[in-house]
Amino acid sequence: MSAAAAVVRGLGGALPERVVTNHHLSTIMDTTDEWIRRRTGIAERRHSAEAESTSVLATTAARRALASAGVNSVGLLIVATSTPDKVCPATAPRVAANLGLHGIAAFDVSAVCSGFVYALATATWAIASGAVNSALVIGADTFTRLLDPSDRTTSVIFGDGAGAAYLSAGTVDEPGAVLASTLHSDGDGETLIHVPRTAGAFFEMQGKEVFTQAVSAMSESVKTVLASVGWEAAEVDSLIAHQANLRILNTVASVTGIPGSKAEVHLDRVGNTSAASIPLAMTDAGTKGHRSPGDKVVLTAFGGGTTWGAIAMTWPTISVVDPH
Ligand code: UT7
Repeated sequence: MSAAAAVVRGLGGALPERVVTNHHLSTIMDTTDEWIRRRTGIAERRHSAEAESTSVLATTAARRALASAGVNSVGLLIVATSTPDKVCPATAPRVAANLGLHGIAAFDVSAVCSGFVYALATATWAIASGAVNSALVIGADTFTRLLDPSDRTTSVIFGDGAGAAYLSAGTVDEPGAVLASTLHSDGDGETLIHVPRTAGAFFEMQGKEVFTQAVSAMSESVKTVLASVGWEAAEVDSLIAHQANLRILNTVASVTGIPGSKAEVHLDRVGNTSAASIPLAMTDAGTKGHRSPGDKVVLTAFGGGTTWGAIAMTWPTISVVDPH
């Protein structure tokens, strides 16, 4: 009999209505479409309206993930977010109640851009332990609300959105099985990506240093999970890395030996959506239909904390709604 595993069976995404183009940003700050495309690969991003809060986007993404899996109940709900609706309580109970899932276990994970990888690993542990039989893992962030509108280094990168995955107990040979994970942190890097603890403070990021650390941390994590599952880099069908900068995606592919053509690129249309970026990129890959069940997939992220990690899984048998 095959070994037990948590298996992804549904994916969903949600994006705010408002598209903000590079051209628009160039009319309100000292930047150009050419600079943004060349240095980041981003062409446009979405900005949430007042009514499109983190919990609202998370609820829509979760509904779509449940529909994609063809289920309407779940044992555990985790929201990965660093931009919760309120400092307290957590966003996850609100999302669970919005879905009519009163009484289930629901909590937030705060790991900034690594949040989805952290939450997905946590859900697989919960399923592997037998504590729950199924889980909804949602990455949702609305960082544009915390940006300094005059800071061109952060304003051009970030966008808002949510993505969700539904998992349930199964076996390692089923398409969608989560096969290995690795998670890390180093609090000494706390101020590289943070919102200072002063009234009215904006989000701050030391872009150049983050770039360097992101490449090396994600590359090491990818190598760790490849070794765990015994895959050669050349056999990876899809590298779904946190969508922060196209140059980072290409460098991680080249450092790990994964062909650059296997790196999923979604940031051109949504920018860096923090915890939402990996599930949104997965949803996008599913929508484009260029993945087949059983494909070898590696997810990896780096973010504030600092935090980083990776997951090896196979591509699920799935149909997904396009959130664009
Ligand atoms: O999501 C969590 C993880 N986050 C990341 O992974 C982000 C990682 N960092 C990055 O993606 C890049 O560092 C940025 C996109 C943030 C910045 O790109 P860069 O190539 O590192 O640019 P830089 O900060 O070294 O700036 C180069 C030049 C500077 O001008 P000088 O000093 O050479 O005259 C900047 O002032 O580009 C200038 N610059 C801009 N020019 C036009 C910086 N931002 C902009 C801008 N438009 N938006």
